[in-house]
Amino acid sequence: MTKNTTTQWMVGLTVAGPLLILAACSGAGSGSTSDGSCTTTLRTLFSNNNFITCVNCHQGSGSSSQTNLDMTSADTAYNGLLATVQSPSNPSQCANVKRVVPQHPELSYLMGILFADYNSSNFGGVSNCQPPYASHSQSLNLPPNAEADIKAWINCGANQ
Ligand code: HEC
Repeated sequence: MTKNTTTQWMVGLTVAGPLLILAACSGAGSGSTSDGSCTTTLRTLFSNNNFITCVNCHQGSGSSSQTNLDMTSADTAYNGLLATVQSPSNPSQCANVKRVVPQHPELSYLMGILFADYNSSNFGGVSNCQPPYASHSQSLNLPPNAEADIKAWINCGANQ
């Protein structure tokens, strides 16, 4: 009985195996933002509410953060996010550090601002360059997958 069942199961697997592999392949690149697939864009991150609170302080020049970053939408934010750090509190310490370095979350100041794992007092190996994590962490309301999704976006080349 056991032997028969096993044999039948093995025959079934031999027939079904290639079909399963085909099915798995056609499912690749489904567009989920949490699986590291390179369909993640800045627009995806905005539409999934990763940056919903940023606009309170980041609306371009003259806004309260004085950083010239305009987080109103993915399109207004894109160039600013790929620029060099310019904040009033840190210009000399963080010279040449970039807010986002495509394919390098560990060198992207944005990650150091938003997530404790990436924050350090010599960010990107630049001594005394510390992203303002402490002041940001209280008011951001990030969705649960934010760290994985923003990291995936950067790893995928930080596309608009
Ligand atoms: C309560 C106000 C406030 C909110 C909300 C806020 N920020 Fe900031 N942010 C600031 C201030 C102030 C600075 C400059 C502080 C500093 O560098 O010491 C700053 C700096 C930054 C910088 C560095 C800019 C530069 O060139 O130095 C980035 C990037 C940034 N914020 C991203 C974000 C993102 C993304 C969000 C939303 C998830 C956000 N911030 C939400 C106030 C805010």
